[in-house]
Amino acid sequence: MVVMVTRPLWMALFSVCFLSVSALLQRLEHPNKADGSLSLVVIGDWGRKGAYNQSQVATQMGRVGEKINIDFVISTGDNFYEDGLTGIDDPAFESSFSEIYTAKSLQKQWYGVLGNHDYRGDVEAQLNPILQNIDHRWFCQRSFIVDTDIAEFFFVDTTPFVDKYFLEPKDHKYDWREVLPREKYLSNLLKDLEIALRDSISKWKIVVGHHPVRSIGHHGNTEELNRHLLPIFEANNVDMYINGHDHCLEHISSTRSQIQYLTSGGGSKAWKGDIDDNNTDGVKFYYDGQGFMTLELEQNNAKVVYYDIFGNVLHVLNLFKGLHSAI
Ligand SMILES: *[C@@H]1O[C@H](CO)[C@@H](O)[C@H](O)[C@H]1NC(C)=O
Ligand SMILES: *[C@@H]1O[C@H](CO)[C@@H](O)[C@H](O)[C@H]1NC(C)=O
Repeated sequence: MVVMVTRPLWMALFSVCFLSVSALLQRLEHPNKADGSLSLVVIGDWGRKGAYNQSQVATQMGRVGEKINIDFVISTGDNFYEDGLTGIDDPAFESSFSEIYTAKSLQKQWYGVLGNHDYRGDVEAQLNPILQNIDHRWFCQRSFIVDTDIAEFFFVDTTPFVDKYFLEPKDHKYDWREVLPREKYLSNLLKDLEIALRDSISKWKIVVGHHPVRSIGHHGNTEELNRHLLPIFEANNVDMYINGHDHCLEHISSTRSQIQYLTSGGGSKAWKGDIDDNNTDGVKFYYDGQGFMTLELEQNNAKVVYYDIFGNVLHVLNLFKGLHSAI
């Protein structure tokens, strides 16, 4: 006997896919320390097989990571130069990641976003969980949330916001699978991010992306993010926006809200030598060389420290919750 189905299978599949496009961001839980605090290292713009001081930065990350007993590592993108990974079997995954960040304290979970250079390779390779069979630390998705009780981290895929990669791609080929049609991708992402930020009851709301909202370095502010993301951050009391892209270390305080703009893009090649003197509102610190950043969170205070490749402290930011003041 023939069973009639009212809708063909492809329609059912289509509606499942359709729903998942606008589904809310994937949420991961990561425990705090027993005392409720959390500490982590932030690195950006790094994968160069150890060159351009990548290995020296890694050594100091390991040393400092041990000292503050980090819970996880954040990567702000541009994970593999120059053109991302060629596939899940690209040896750069090991030669630029596994074989570089070997310190004991760095054998923790890594949470990363994609940078524009990552979009020039097989972008889905970096997102493929099969990489965890090679190195269990790896976790990279386009946009997702890490919830730690004390803080909520909103990882945002910023590359698709930037017009020039679409309008003037130069000689680069970007892998826009799953991003096109672009308008729909961006509007879904903005909607999901806004809902997630609005609904968050976390003490600290921290957004991580590759491109800067504010920067006085080589690339400067990202106008598309100022237009589309910043109003959502301001309306929802985001405390920090953490990014890479400019190959420097930077701390800029918003002059309009409590948002602190923190750039950690010094994972390897740096020393661009340029600085935009016309864009210095709220700039507290700018270092054009290599290094990394740490973040230590407690219920009522946060500490951000920037380090160079020798492990020297370059800059410290202390935030106190409730007082809305920065030192
Ligand atoms: C490595 O770091 C040192 C110290 O900051 C710097 O002088 C040197 O130029 C860096 N090397 C490269 C290749 O960036
Ligand atoms: C800064 O402003 C001055 C005066 O308007 C201009 O001549 C200069 O080119 C600007 N610099 C940058 C980096 O935009």
